[in-house]
Amino acid sequence: MEIKKILVVGAGTMGHSIAQVYATAGIEVNLVDLNQDILNRAMNLIKSNLNVLAEFEWVNKNEISNILNRIKPSNDLKEATIGVDLVVEAVSEVPDLKEKVFSQLDEYCSENCILASNTSSLDIFKIVKVKNPGRLVIQHWFAPPYIIPLVEIVAGRKTSKETVELSVKLIERLGKKPVVLNKYIDSFIVNRIQNAISGVVFELLLRKIATPEMIDAAVKHSLGIRLPIVGVVQTLDFTGLDLVNDISKSKGIEVSLIKNRVDQGHLGAKTSKGFYDYGGMSEEEILKKRDRQYLKILSYLNKINAFKPI
Ligand SMILES: NC(=O)c1ccc[n+]([C@@H]2O[C@H](COP(=O)([O-])OP(=O)(O)OC[C@H]3O[C@@H](n4cnc5c(N)ncnc54)[C@H](O)[C@@H]3O)[C@@H](O)[C@H]2O)c1
Repeated sequence: MEIKKILVVGAGTMGHSIAQVYATAGIEVNLVDLNQDILNRAMNLIKSNLNVLAEFEWVNKNEISNILNRIKPSNDLKEATIGVDLVVEAVSEVPDLKEKVFSQLDEYCSENCILASNTSSLDIFKIVKVKNPGRLVIQHWFAPPYIIPLVEIVAGRKTSKETVELSVKLIERLGKKPVVLNKYIDSFIVNRIQNAISGVVFELLLRKIATPEMIDAAVKHSLGIRLPIVGVVQTLDFTGLDLVNDISKSKGIEVSLIKNRVDQGHLGAKTSKGFYDYGGMSEEEILKKRDRQYLKILSYLNKINAFKPI
């Protein structure tokens, strides 16, 4: 099944820019919201976003009018479902509203149409009732979707394998990075991590341990340099899993994932195996590889003045 035409419901922060990504990839898009003012704002924002992307040669300036012409704004949901292969729901994060919109979509769309929600955290599979639950999936984008590559794809218990595979291929066709979660979990991967960070940040602020500027400076000058290269799991291989284990123990916590590796002598980069397997590369080689990447990132961040707040 090839996706040729889609419908995006909700033209707010996420909806308008998801519509833009599809239209840029040559796909026809119907974009629905409640009234003409919202739709006008959405189309103006899309044009402005495309102009910024053109500055960086992510889109060809001469293509902008064609991209805009592929997006048909409308406030008639029923009419906008005609002939679409996929719906991306991006209305406000209110369970009753999602339920209502999906029940309308279920009535209007063909049974083969994929129904995707961009919810940030809701268990859409419990909230929504549709005739063909095999076609219901979460495709969770990140703002701004025309820049940030990740789309988390979450399958419900009844979501078919075909729907997940098709979602993966589609997101790749858009030039984006799909990551599939096989099971629903509140807030998925990234927002779950972000929520944990926010919890700590609020505590630091409330206890007046540091100002917002100090916290951001601390993070940008440390994690901000490491994260793009080693993420949040591989970084532990470089800390040393033995040290991570000792720190956990001193806090009275035993993390079996860490302890089991330490017991087997897998300490991370220093033993060529931890959460990742470095295929027998020596510690020296692994560290050199990492450091060259860190140096490139740091030089670039300095070049673009990234350590100054926006
Ligand atoms: N803002 C983010 O960074 C972000 C990131 C990822 C996912 N999300 C999720 O995307 C969804 C949309 O979030 P947003 O930030 O774009 O919200 P938003 O408030 O900017 O946009 C929601 C739009 O839905 C429209 N709407 C409401 N009821 C409607 C209806 N019955 N029919 C058609 N349109 C209707 C509103 O008029 C509004 O324009 C939410 O589920 C949110 O959790 C948001």
